[in-house]
Amino acid sequence: MKRLLPFLLLLAACGHKPADPAATAFAPVRAVLETQCVHCHGDNRLSSMPPINDTRAIAKLISSGWILPGKPEASRFFQVVTFPDEIPGAMPPSGHAISKKQVQILRDWIKAGARVPAHNVKLSPQGPLPRSV
Ligand code: HEC
Repeated sequence: MKRLLPFLLLLAACGHKPADPAATAFAPVRAVLETQCVHCHGDNRLSSMPPINDTRAIAKLISSGWILPGKPEASRFFQVVTFPDEIPGAMPPSGHAISKKQVQILRDWIKAGARVPAHNVKLSPQGPLPRSV
């Protein structure tokens, strides 16, 4: 402990805070949204589309009923990613369904309470626009 103390003091002096558990839970969800949704639902979306451009917007999707924490199957936000391509409103709408693993990540997150980080996190599109060729 004696040896550890200066190190702990240094950590405290650097303002080190324990990781936000909600941010840890949200990390895999963020990756799915940034590769599969944010290209269209980001800052330049049509006003009729639900925003997925930052975590504050996602919190609003929860308060407005798009995402029902604990109930993925009843959440419109989740339902649309499970629709087969031939159903109008399937997301992404381009005939390019997200993988089963990605569906599971979104499902698990909503089931566990759909927690978002305490501080607002900006979401940016990653990789090519999800679109079939
Ligand atoms: C290629 C562009 C594009 C991508 C990628 C995309 N969306 Fe959409 N999304 C749209 C458009 C356009 C609409 C509005 C038209 C409509 O409802 O079909 C929409 C509507 C929605 C709606 C509202 C549906 C309703 O029933 O009113 C939800 C929820 C949604 N998207 C979620 C997602 C999620 C989650 C992802 C990622 C897995 C995603 N979208 C990816 C373009 C996209």
